[in-house]
Amino acid sequence: MDNRTDEQGEFINRVTLPEMAERVVADVRSRQLPPGHVITFANEKGGVGKSTLAFHCAVALSNAGAEVLALDLDYRQRTLATALENRRGTATCLSVDIACPNYAVVEKQTGSALVQEINRLGSKARFVIIDAPGSDTPLGRRAIALANTLVTPLNASFLDLQQLGRFNPVSMQLSAPGPFAGLVGAIQAERVKVGQAPADWVLLKNRVRSSEQRQQKRIDEALDRLADVWQARTASGLSERVAYRELFLFGLLHGDLKKIPQLRASARKEPQDIGRLLAELRLPPMGIGSCNRRTSQARVLERTRENYLKSLQTHLASDRVAGRGN
Ligand SMILES: Nc1ncnc2c1ncn2[C@@H]1O[C@H](COP(=O)(O)OP(=O)(O)O)[C@@H](O)[C@H]1O
Ligand SMILES: [Mg+2]
Repeated sequence: MDNRTDEQGEFINRVTLPEMAERVVADVRSRQLPPGHVITFANEKGGVGKSTLAFHCAVALSNAGAEVLALDLDYRQRTLATALENRRGTATCLSVDIACPNYAVVEKQTGSALVQEINRLGSKARFVIIDAPGSDTPLGRRAIALANTLVTPLNASFLDLQQLGRFNPVSMQLSAPGPFAGLVGAIQAERVKVGQAPADWVLLKNRVRSSEQRQQKRIDEALDRLADVWQARTASGLSERVAYRELFLFGLLHGDLKKIPQLRASARKEPQDIGRLLAELRLPPMGIGSCNRRTSQARVLERTRENYLKSLQTHLASDRVAGRGN
C-alpha cells in the first residue's frame, strides 16, 4: 500500500531520479542480510555532521555494550574510518580498554559490495552504522534503502534546508522539493509499495548555537513543515561543541576520558547531547552478549606511550576541551 500524502506524491513526481527507486529497492531486497539494525547517516550536502554523528553514535552504542559495525561509504574522505582507526591507535598506545567498533570502507559502488561487508564483519552486529557520502551515489542510495533508521543532519540554516525543500521567502510556503528529500521520499514510497516498512527518518539539527535562538524558531517551523511533508520526524539536535571535533585525532569521545587513568582528572562535565540523541532515535534494545571491547596486547615502548599521552594532554589543555566541558 502506498501511504504517500498528495503533497508528498506530487513532490516526488517532480523529482528527476538518476536511478529508479524500484531498481534500488529491488536490488537491496534481493540480498540476504544479518539481523542488525541499520542506522544510515545521509544527506547529499557535505559538512553537515554525518561522519561526526555516525562516529559518536557508533562509539556510544559500543560503550553501552552493543556490538557495532561501522561502514564508511565516503571512500575519498574516510572520516569515520579514520576516527575509528585513531581510536584503535589510542587503545594500543595507552593500553586502555575502550570499546572499538569494527569498521570498513566500502569503495565499490554496488549493492553486493555493501551487503558483502555487512555479512563479512557484521553478522553478529546489533547495530550497523553507515556513513553515506555527501553526494548522490549508487551506494548512498542503497544505504538509504537498507536503513531501519535514517538520520539526516542539517546545519540550522535555510541553505541546508534546501536539500529537503524550497520555501517561498514571502509566503513561507513550500514551493519545490529538495533533491535529497525527493530521493529519500521515492525510496520510502517504493518500500511501502512492496510491503516493506519505510525507514524511521529523523531530521536532526546540528551545530546549534544558543546565541541564535531567534533564528532557530523560523528554522524549527520550516523543519517541522518539511518533516510533515516527507513523513519524517525531527529530533532536538546537537549543539556546537569543541569536543565534537577536537578529539577526532585520538578517536575519543569526551566520555571516554574517565576511562583513561592518566586523564581522569580532566574528565569533567561530559556533554549530554549524545545520550539524548540516542534516546530520541528510539533504537531497539541494545542486546547483550558480545561487544566490541578490545584490550590491546600489542607491546608499546614506554617512550611512545609517554609521548602519546603528552600530546593528548596538551591537546586537551590547549583547547580547554575538558576544562569547559565543551
Ligand atoms: N556538533 C558539532 N560541534 C562542533 N563541530 C562539529 C559538530 N558537528 C560537526 N562538526 C564539525 O563540522 C565539520 C563537518 O563535519 P562532518 O562530520 O565531517 O560532516 P559531513 O560528514 O556531513 O561532511 C567538521 O569539521 C566537524 O568536526
Ligand atoms: Mg563525512
